[in-house]
Amino acid sequence: MSKRTVFDYQAYAGHTKHLGGMAATEELVDLCEISSDDEVLEVGCGVGQTAVWLARRIGCRVIGVDNLQGMVERARERAERAGVEERVEFRVANIIDLPFEDDRFDAVFGESITVFATDHAKAIKEYARVVKPGGLVGLNESTWLQPPSPELIAWLSQDMAANATAHTAEEWEGLLESAGLQDLVVRISKVDTRKEVLGLFRRYGCGGFLQIIGRALTLYLRNPEYRNFVRETREGGIIPENTQDYLGYGLYIGRKP
Ligand SMILES: C[S@@+](CC[C@H](N)C(=O)[O-])C[C@H]1O[C@@H](n2cnc3c(N)ncnc32)[C@H](O)[C@@H]1O
Repeated sequence: MSKRTVFDYQAYAGHTKHLGGMAATEELVDLCEISSDDEVLEVGCGVGQTAVWLARRIGCRVIGVDNLQGMVERARERAERAGVEERVEFRVANIIDLPFEDDRFDAVFGESITVFATDHAKAIKEYARVVKPGGLVGLNESTWLQPPSPELIAWLSQDMAANATAHTAEEWEGLLESAGLQDLVVRISKVDTRKEVLGLFRRYGCGGFLQIIGRALTLYLRNPEYRNFVRETREGGIIPENTQDYLGYGLYIGRKP
C-alpha cells in the first residue's frame, strides 16, 4: 500500500482547503462567467464544498473529480445533504488523464490542485482539452511572490506531505499559454493567515468546523499511523518565518480559442 498523504486524513475528517478561502472562490467563479445553463468541471474537488456551493448558488450542473475515493465519498454525502445530487456528480479521476471527451464543458476550474499533479503542464493541457472552444479555464494556484529559498521549497512539499510545487505568476501564465489558452486574466494575492483561519469557519460553518475537529481528534486518539504521520510532518508544519512574503496565491483564467 502506498504511503498515506495528508489528503487521506483530510478525507476522513471531511475537509479540504485552498488559499484565499471563500472570497477567492467567489472571485474565481465570477471570473469564469458561469451561468445556470452551464455544465462545469471542478478538478481536484476534495470534499465537494465548492461544487455543492456552486450548484446551489448558480444552479448549474457540476462534475467534480478527485483522485481519492474517500474525497469523492465525502463530496457525495455533502451533495445529498444539500439536496443537489441531481445537479452535482463526483468521480474518481486523475487530473493528468481526465475521463471526458474533448470540448465537453462550458468551464473548467480548480482550487489548489495543479500544484499536486506529477506533471503540471499535462494537467493544464487536459483542462484545456475538455473545455469547449470559447470556454474558460480558471485556477487558484499557490504562487511564489519572490524567489523562495530551497528550505521554503522543501517546506511546502514536506508540510503538505503531498509534494506540492508552486510556480511564479509568469511560470503559471506560461503553462496556460502552452496549453493554448488565451486572453489571460491574472490576479495575485498575498495570504492573510488570520483570514485563512476565519475562512475555514465561513466555509464549513460552526457545526461543520466542530465536526471536522471532532473527527480529526478521534482519528488521532484511535489511529497510531495517523499519530506517527502528525509527528513526522509536525516539524515541516512549522511555518518558516516571513513565508507570507514569498508564498501567495494567484487566480489564472484563460479562454480556449
Ligand atoms: C488542497 S486540496 C483542495 C481541494 C479543493 N479544491 C478545495 O479547495 O477544498 C487538493 C485536492 O486535490 C486532490 N488531488 C491531488 N492530486 C490529484 C490528482 N493528481 N488528480 C486528482 N485530484 C488530486 C487531493 O485528493 C485533494 O482533494
